Amino acid sequence: APKDEDVVRAPRPEYIPNKIDDLNYVRVFDTTLRDGEQSPGATLTSKEKLDIARNLAKLGVDIIEAGFPIASPDDLEAVRNIAKNVGNEVYPDGYVPVICGLSRANKKDIDAAWEGVRHAKRPRIHTFIATSKIHMESKLRKTPDEVVQIAVDGVTYARSLGCEDVEFSPEDAGRSDPEFLYRILAAVVEAGATTLNIPDTVGICLPEEFGALIAGIKANVPGQYIISTHCQNDLGLSTANSLAGVANGARQVECTINGIGERAGNASLEEVAMSIWMRGQEKIFGARTGINPVYIYPCSKMVREYSGMAVQPHKAIVGANAFAHESGIHQDGMLKNKLTYEIIAPETIGYFRGEGDVGVVMGKHSGRHALKSKLKQLGFPLEGDELNEMFDRFKLVAEQKTGGVGDDEIIALVTSGAGQG
Ligand code: KIV
Repeated sequence: APKDEDVVRAPRPEYIPNKIDDLNYVRVFDTTLRDGEQSPGATLTSKEKLDIARNLAKLGVDIIEAGFPIASPDDLEAVRNIAKNVGNEVYPDGYVPVICGLSRANKKDIDAAWEGVRHAKRPRIHTFIATSKIHMESKLRKTPDEVVQIAVDGVTYARSLGCEDVEFSPEDAGRSDPEFLYRILAAVVEAGATTLNIPDTVGICLPEEFGALIAGIKANVPGQYIISTHCQNDLGLSTANSLAGVANGARQVECTINGIGERAGNASLEEVAMSIWMRGQEKIFGARTGINPVYIYPCSKMVREYSGMAVQPHKAIVGANAFAHESGIHQDGMLKNKLTYEIIAPETIGYFRGEGDVGVVMGKHSGRHALKSKLKQLGFPLEGDELNEMFDRFKLVAEQKTGGVGDDEIIALVTSGAGQG
């Protein structure tokens, strides 16, 4: 990654909890350390959480959800540590990230969340209660009226502690009655909520539905607040749904690095941020974020290593194959012009290939042109019959291999065949 002082970012609007003085700016709220850590099998130590939080701040994340303080003394300590440190550090563009802690809508949880985040320059409490019929009836065993009262009491209590930045989430909003959502959201805004986060908790919405939900909230809930998306990936639609939310007025997106999270995970920060970076101007009302893409790969690598959650090779943006090319036709295109098969230069996201390396992976689908180029790079500039003969022998080896043919094997092949033909 580059040195901090070399990093130039677009100016970020001043942080005001319930409004953004730039209609196009979308806040990025990272929940790798809270929802991401809820991935089965992913556990992070307090020191690892602090390292990740620092990297998220460098990446340009606006709000870091550092944990769920009531969950355990360790969680509280990790949140407090991040609030005291990262929450008071000034990052290259002069920005101090907001540090957020999650709580259910009850005093004990809210006290723990406040105890964790209050040391930060910009503390936020995020409180939630479920609003879908199935959750209210089967899980909470509460009536809708009771749920509204609990939500209002929770937000009022959080504000009474001196916290000026309070986010409210109606859990399972994706399956909640929109009219009930408007009612509870209007009530919590009245009580002092500054961000309304809309979770598709079970990842069931289609992009059109989620977009319409956000548009409906914007049109029907009075007051000054920021709308946020929180999309789970059960149907593989979390990125598409987050973008549909932005297109319909959401100005905060909640995501995690590598998309880690409960079950099939959360919207992945790198996918959402790079989609806005690539297509924001033309497609989604000129949206932009404060993310500096060059830190994406280092963050992804750190989260992968610390959490032990592997990244699938074909994962968009950060997978091992995201910038690799095996078929002959693609390799030929890449060797002539990288834009033929890459929409993002890997350096943009902080993934640096070697000089002259265009991500060509030598395997059974590789063509003559790619082999010629690889041989030249390895110091064997073969032409004509020599190249043809080497290509035939290479194909025989490549057809037997599943993981591609490495440079050492190609060198062995060319030197063992020297003088043949
Ligand atoms: O998925 C969800 O509903 C949540 C909320 C607490 C925001 O994680």
